[in-house]
Amino acid sequence: MVVCHCRAVSDSGIRHAVERGAADVESVARHCGAGSVCGGCRPAIALLLGVVCPLDAAYADGPAATAPSVP
Ligand code: FES
Repeated sequence: MVVCHCRAVSDSGIRHAVERGAADVESVARHCGAGSVCGGCRPAIALLLGVVCPLDAAYADGPAATAPSVP
């Protein structure tokens, strides 16, 4: 399955990048070019990496979970 249409990189290309040491979206881009043009495939790359979008992670338990704790 093609993940990055700009660079014609498939999910197996992403997996190969990970096998060569890519650990995040930026390093995948450096290894195989996926995500380095329009960026539209970056969420899909993040999903393949098992990385949760920072905004999703921040609100995973609701906005109250991100509020600073009061001592
Ligand atoms: S679809 Fe991957 S950079 Fe554009």
